[in-house]
Amino acid sequence: MEVTNQELHFPWLKEKGISLCIKREDLIHPVISGNKYRKLKYNLLEAKNRGEHTLLSFGGAYSNHIAALAYAGKERDFRTIGVIRGEELKHHWQDNPTLKAAQAQGMQLYFLSREDYRRKEETAVLSQLKAKFGDFYLLPEGGTNALAVKGCEEILTSEDDTFDVICTCVGTGGTLAGLANAAWPHQRVLGFPVLKGEYLKDSIRNFAQKDNWELVPGFHFGGYAKVNADLVRFINRFKEQTGIQLDPVYTGKLFFGLLELIKQDTFAPGTRILAIHTGGLQGIPGMNIVLKKKNLPLIY
Ligand SMILES: Cc1ncc(COP(=O)(O)O)c(C=O)c1O
Repeated sequence: MEVTNQELHFPWLKEKGISLCIKREDLIHPVISGNKYRKLKYNLLEAKNRGEHTLLSFGGAYSNHIAALAYAGKERDFRTIGVIRGEELKHHWQDNPTLKAAQAQGMQLYFLSREDYRRKEETAVLSQLKAKFGDFYLLPEGGTNALAVKGCEEILTSEDDTFDVICTCVGTGGTLAGLANAAWPHQRVLGFPVLKGEYLKDSIRNFAQKDNWELVPGFHFGGYAKVNADLVRFINRFKEQTGIQLDPVYTGKLFFGLLELIKQDTFAPGTRILAIHTGGLQGIPGMNIVLKKKNLPLIY
């Protein structure tokens, strides 16, 4: 699948001699977009090859992965089961745009207490799920496994060898690992974590075959799905100036951080940067509900 690179024409980027392009992976599909499409591609083929009929995975209340799995599963005739963190949601899931849309695609939602959810990869919890739902093809939370990384290696194409630096946001690091594996020898891959934690490096090393990547800490805004008014205003301004929608959990943090680094002259004049838009826009209505409750500005 060919995805276009869109150049950003901010005058201040030109003054600094920096070229910044965005790979519009968000345009692949409204929900199965960006790295979700890449991560599911080979996993769904593998599930079909194994003769599996059911896909099961885990996620939080606004999970892009759960939403994408529901849509992709329906498209390819799989039964889908979403195991969701937080038993309390059992009574309120209709108020949650992500879960409502997933259920409308035929996904069966199953809610686990936070304690059981923490133990979700242990045999005891998996056996309970098997007893309840029968055999299934298991996709890990966030969708990262070896086949997902293989899919993410296809984000870069032969035309992208003109870039010096490739940037992405980082949750589990599967996308970063795919980019690192596929990058040319002259390229550096920078990952912007959206959550706190050193442990990320070890899990990325499980999948990245090269040492051409590094993490840029300091732009997680306090942790996973933590958002403040500055970030929301940045996302709205970016949309006004470029026409490109960012989300507050992943790509908003990436572009906030990347533009800051460029402003601080981290990159030499002449550097050509490619930033990956990994999608995730389906989560915005849900995040706006949270922002409204906190009296913060909304994403438009
Ligand atoms: C839109 C979006 N971008 C980036 C990521 C992070 O990807 P990874 O977990 O591979 O680091 C995710 C989460 O999976 C996501 O939903």
